[in-house]
This record gives sequence, structure tokens and C-alpha cells, in this order.
Amino acid sequence: MKHAAVTIDGPAGSGKSTIARQVADRLGFVYLDTGALYRAAALAVDEAGADSTDGDACAEVVRRAGIGLEHGRVSMGGRDVTEAIRSHRISSLSSQIAVHPQVRDALLDLQRSFREKSPLVAEGRDTGSVVFPDADVKIYIDASAQERARRRHRELVSKGVDISYEKVLNDLKERDQRDATRSVAPLVVPQHAVVVDTTHLRIGEVISKVLKVVQDKLAD
Ligand code: DC
Repeated sequence: MKHAAVTIDGPAGSGKSTIARQVADRLGFVYLDTGALYRAAALAVDEAGADSTDGDACAEVVRRAGIGLEHGRVSMGGRDVTEAIRSHRISSLSSQIAVHPQVRDALLDLQRSFREKSPLVAEGRDTGSVVFPDADVKIYIDASAQERARRRHRELVSKGVDISYEKVLNDLKERDQRDATRSVAPLVVPQHAVVVDTTHLRIGEVISKVLKVVQDKLAD
């Protein structure tokens, strides 16, 4: 059975994870963090020592990795990797392996399977364009690169990571470029998506705004 789907896409650091999690909570929907699946895939590739430029090799590792996502915890072959996938190294590797169509394909059924179980709020780069093109509501969250890098930098520093703002900004721009220019499922504003720019908004304001859009559309 296909349940209701709300998609929230946007670039790294746009605030979409916080927004998607809260909107899912408020609606009583499951929150599907598709980036976490790409991150788990990257961790699997890293641990296997596979060549990240080889799409077939990466996809093979990903298919065998036993990636799972339940109650906000990410697992790989039964091992909890929720924290391990959040490192700076895995952020970068996840966007490198996400360029391979074979890797995207290996994660597609897994992403779609969540909608068979319950209504969801899916968040990522292509959830409205590729994974759930027939979603009930599509949102695209944006913010300037500088603001997004400031947010990421603050988050990393609060976790005790020693990294400069400039490095975070450069890595983020590099990742944006890769995510937006890859030939398969690039980051795009999906058709019929409502665009919300969060650069000058507080998170609470964004959540209220997005919730209103979602509730109005779902009520239609
Ligand atoms: O949202 P995130 O930063 O956790 O995502 C990590 C990487 O995974 C991101 O740089 C690109 C990739 N990704 C993707 O290609 N498609 C998605 N739907 C989600 C993430």
C-alpha cells in the first residue's frame, strides 16, 4: 500500500533535516532521512576499502551492507552506525559515491519500501524528483552557502571538531557542485515544489511555514 508522502529536498546545511524531523513528528508520520542511507553506504564503502570511483564496486558493497533505518537509528548488518556516519570524512565520501547510478539504484527500493509501511516525510536531494515523484506535497528548502556553512561549522565545533569556517564553506561548495551537477538525479527543485528560503528565517518560523503548506495541501 502507498501511504501519503511529503518530500523535503535541498542542499547541505539548509536546515531540511531539522524541518523534516519536526514536521514528521507533528503529523505523526515517519521521518525518512535518505542522506543517512547514502552516508551508511559511504561508510560501508570506506570500511570495505572499495574504490569510491568505481560505481559497480560501490554498489556491490552497498547491496551486501544490510543498511537499515528504524526509529532514527541507522544500522549496518545489525551494527548501530548512527554516530559513525556523521563524520566530515563520510559527508564528503557520501556525495562522491552518490554520483554513481548503480549506487543510487541500490538504495532506491529501500527508500521506497518505507512508504509501504506508513505515511512519511522524506528528506534528501531527489526525494521529490526521483524517489517519490508522485508525493502529495513537495518542499524545497534553500539558504545561502555562507549561512549554510555557518550552521554546519557551528554544529561541528559544538561536537568538538577542530575545523575552520573556510574549510567547511569550501567543502560545502564542492559538495553542492557535485550534488547539483551529477548526471543522475542531481539536486533540483522538483516540479510543483514549494520553495522556502531559510537564510533570514529562524528555524521555528520555517517549521510553522512548512507545516502550514503541508497541512493545507494534505487537506485538499
Ligand atoms: O543530507 P546529507 O548531508 O546527510 O547527505 C549526504 C550526501 O548524500 C549528500 O552530499 C548527497 C547524498 N544524497 C543524495 O545524493 N541523495 C539523497 N536523496 C540524499 C543524500
